Amino acid sequence: MNRPVTNRPVTRRDFAAAGLAALAAAPLGRAAESKPAPADDTARLAKDGGPKAVTGKPGPWVRWDERERAQLAEAAAQASLFYWQGRGANKQTALFVERFKAYCPREHVVTCSSGTAALHVAVAAAGIGPGDEVITTPITDIGTITGILFQQGVPVFADLGASSYNLDPAAVERCITPRTKAIIAVHLAGAPCDMDAIMALAARHRLIVIEDCAQAWGARYRGKPVGSIGHVACYSLMNSKHIGAGDGGVVASSDPKIGPALLKFADKGNDRLGAGYTWDKTAVLASNYRMSELQAAFAAVQLERLEGIAAKRAALGRSLIEAIAGAPGILPPALGAEDRGTFWFFYFRLQTERLRGTRAQFVEALRAEGAPASAGYIPVPVYRLPYFQNHGFFAGRWPIKELGLTAMDYTKVRCPEAEAILATGIQVPLNESMDEAYVRGIGAAIRKVARHFAA
Ligand SMILES: Cc1ncc(COP(=O)(O)O)c(C=O)c1O
Repeated sequence: MNRPVTNRPVTRRDFAAAGLAALAAAPLGRAAESKPAPADDTARLAKDGGPKAVTGKPGPWVRWDERERAQLAEAAAQASLFYWQGRGANKQTALFVERFKAYCPREHVVTCSSGTAALHVAVAAAGIGPGDEVITTPITDIGTITGILFQQGVPVFADLGASSYNLDPAAVERCITPRTKAIIAVHLAGAPCDMDAIMALAARHRLIVIEDCAQAWGARYRGKPVGSIGHVACYSLMNSKHIGAGDGGVVASSDPKIGPALLKFADKGNDRLGAGYTWDKTAVLASNYRMSELQAAFAAVQLERLEGIAAKRAALGRSLIEAIAGAPGILPPALGAEDRGTFWFFYFRLQTERLRGTRAQFVEALRAEGAPASAGYIPVPVYRLPYFQNHGFFAGRWPIKELGLTAMDYTKVRCPEAEAILATGIQVPLNESMDEAYVRGIGAAIRKVARHFAA
């Protein structure tokens, strides 16, 4: 469900053009030096032959350089590329973990092969078993959900806030039953969930809160990094995320029961913190979700770039919200005044009843203005995927339903706000290769098109 197409890939020519000297600072993406866009909303639409609202373009989006390459070379000089530190020779995973803890203070931090793996480990370590319900959002990557199903738990979908696109705590509360064990709060597109309300609910109902921070590196809820508030934090290092290592993930927890269990569930049940390489004696069934030293080396350098990347995206996103506020028929994304969103992408909604024309026509007009817009995010809410509709997760069957351990019927699930968010939303890429003037140009394009489409 990922949409990595929010940015064009970095090409060899980008590297050459950027020049090594310019690549030393973090973040790497050099902002385009675009001229401020004309603010004339009344000009003819570009699709009808008028001037384009977006005049500049993003700079080269260069995401790594000599520093990552040097760290990779250091790793490759080691005798072993295995993550475990037992023999003391391997340093990259330890370096990554140290830096991650400085970013998101959690006692137990385990590197994994992907964000999906991190989420599976989190759900397994939280003790989710057959028939246990886990409440989450229907607008997310499928990686949020697969771990629940593999542990034979039941994903329960709660509706979302109209402009936050994140879990609505009141809707979560309505989904709580005696079988509910956990909530997975996804900080969608880099916007923090309402964590105070979610944690209060969880405390009242004794639920575990897992934060899915895959799209929210660098985001802060009331000053705290996302992932440092719930019981477990999960991050992805997949290529298109704010920082990456091609693939990879992190799962972290300070919970005294869950934290020490993470490692086992990421490493075939081995108790490396205790008795050691013990998969023949382990009591837990677990997969191999390990990350190698090479990925950890790369990711450790990427983590050093994070603050620059996050601060830039946060500022650009706020500017774009400001630029489109008050435009007719436009619903900008909501972001708490005290929070920092880091905009994995920028998503806004059309109030279609206040506009003439369709979303497709709006997107087409925006693209003609030079704004790289596209319609929606994932095609349908997760519960509408075919294997949810036919309850056929495991070779066409769902054993826990056949055994009567759940009465869940996904054909009956409806989250009207989530459906509307997908039906009326428009996505615009946002990243650190862009500058203020370029993003203001996108804002001007949205205002201009909205004015022309206003009913
Ligand atoms: C919200 C969310 N959760 C989980 C994942 C899964 O991460 P990965 O692709 O690293 O498995 C993603 C990836 O796009 C995501 O966006």
